[in-house]
Amino acid sequence: MEEKVNQIKEEALKEISNAKAMQELENARIKYLGKKGALTEILKMMGGLSPEERPVLGSIVNKAKSELEVAIQEKEEILEKEELAKKLESEKIDVSLPASKITRGSKHPLTRVIEEIEDLFVSMGYDVVSGPELETDEYCFERLNLPKGHPARDMQDSFYISPEYLLRAQTSAVQARAMMANEEKSPIRIIVPGKTYRREDDATHSHQFNQVEGLVIDKNISFADLKGTLEIFMRHMLGENTNLRFRPSYFPFTEPSYEVDVSCFKCGGKGCNLCKQTGWIELLGSGIVHPNVLRMNGYDPDIYSGFAFGTGLDRLAMFKYGITDIRLLYGNDVRFLNQFDRKD
Ligand code: DAH
Repeated sequence: MEEKVNQIKEEALKEISNAKAMQELENARIKYLGKKGALTEILKMMGGLSPEERPVLGSIVNKAKSELEVAIQEKEEILEKEELAKKLESEKIDVSLPASKITRGSKHPLTRVIEEIEDLFVSMGYDVVSGPELETDEYCFERLNLPKGHPARDMQDSFYISPEYLLRAQTSAVQARAMMANEEKSPIRIIVPGKTYRREDDATHSHQFNQVEGLVIDKNISFADLKGTLEIFMRHMLGENTNLRFRPSYFPFTEPSYEVDVSCFKCGGKGCNLCKQTGWIELLGSGIVHPNVLRMNGYDPDIYSGFAFGTGLDRLAMFKYGITDIRLLYGNDVRFLNQFDRKD
């Protein structure tokens, strides 16, 4: 047996020293030390030996194995050095070549839309506020008049992390945060652009999307304020001739609630493929802040009133720039992004 082991070892050492490339060395390793390698096979035969013989052979094989391992490692270092030397010889660096050009990136269409909205609202005295994307059920729903088990929760197929935490399904969560954080309970005028998440994926829906929320709370706020604000907002984004249509709707945190359509900016309201021949495009949810929401978040509804609105920024960007698939906004494809390389 011992002789056999020595014979295998000598053979292996020869192969290792003759190896001219890494692959050959690896083949030798597998051949002798691998799972089905020659030395491994000998170890497997030990079952047939007497208890006295076993440890003797075991130590002989293990010694041979470690000798081979050392030889392989040494050879590996030699081969690596050789390969590097070869590379250095053939690779000549021309230091006089001009540097590769660094191309200037462009602003993402969503960033453009967000910045445009922020500039407009800041000019009207609003603050831009943010909130956590990993939100509590309390702020995302309960404090917005959507208790557990409320059927309107079904409209937003949400990603729950635990019974208490979810990826926020709407930026409306920040309405409650802003009201609760305002200790003096003074007037509020905020917009909240940010990422939101729902379990949906197709050409017009992405599991991650962006919304902007608006909230105004003060004394004597009425529907006229909401209407005027949204008119300024939409005309600024989509053109001076944009008209708005308010349709009664339902959201638990506003009463009354409205869905807001804008006149189609492609056909001017005559009807085309973009507006599906209706002349209108649905773009916002809005309403007068529900007294329960005011009360739950520390505002007295007998003194204060407010309006709120929310809209999907992806949808707005898609309409504004004629983008037909929402996934393009999240694909990181420079051929798409380059098209927005305007000099601003
Ligand atoms: N959060 C609503 C949604 O994601 C949109 C919305 C509707 C926001 C009405 C509001 C509002 O602030 O008043 O569908």
